[in-house]
Amino acid sequence: MRIFLDTANIEHIEHGVSLGVVSGVTTNPTLVSMEGHKDYRAMVKKICSIVPGPVSAEVVVEGAPAMLEQAREIAAWATNVVIKIPATAEGLEVTSALKKENIKVNMTLCFSVNQALLAALAGASYISPFVGRLDDAGHDGMALVKDIVDVFKNYQDLTTEVLAASIRHPLHCIAAARAGAHIATVPYKVLLQMIKHPLTDIGIERFLADWKSVSGK
Ligand code: G3P
Repeated sequence: MRIFLDTANIEHIEHGVSLGVVSGVTTNPTLVSMEGHKDYRAMVKKICSIVPGPVSAEVVVEGAPAMLEQAREIAAWATNVVIKIPATAEGLEVTSALKKENIKVNMTLCFSVNQALLAALAGASYISPFVGRLDDAGHDGMALVKDIVDVFKNYQDLTTEVLAASIRHPLHCIAAARAGAHIATVPYKVLLQMIKHPLTDIGIERFLADWKSVSGK
């Protein structure tokens, strides 16, 4: 399973990439607004220049013609940009049109296997089931990820990758890997939580103390 960062924070992206474990980034309008980026184009171009893989940038207009026009515009900003399109009827229409133009789509706000199947048929490169938001609503978000992975496995010609999104904590990452998600997109905080273990820190401290006691350094 690959790890993407779910953020528009440049420093966090630089750190994640420097660790060699982050191979993509996903953003959404909320994440962009949280960072106070005023120039959407400059922000997306900057992130795309840092990340060695796909960077999802969402369309922020409604209606298929406007979404299509904006998707084409965003796609021209960088070679590794992926257009985030919501899982609606208009979104499917836009996705299938973009597929014909070889523009990659991450179909977002997915809450059902049917939406995922339709996204794949329309030609989306990625489908993003929102795990945490389903959990919030009293459903099992990770069960949806597993269901989508299982259904896609039945059809070798479906090449859409399952991108577990709305990840809230490290256990979600383990569950996404167990479910067979191709990618989990995680907040920076969760990436740091995945790295950290108190026994590692205690172990380092003890090793260094023991070494100091014999070497005198
Ligand atoms: O990027 C989409 C998704 O990951 C949002 O997560 O925590 O706002 O539900 P969240």
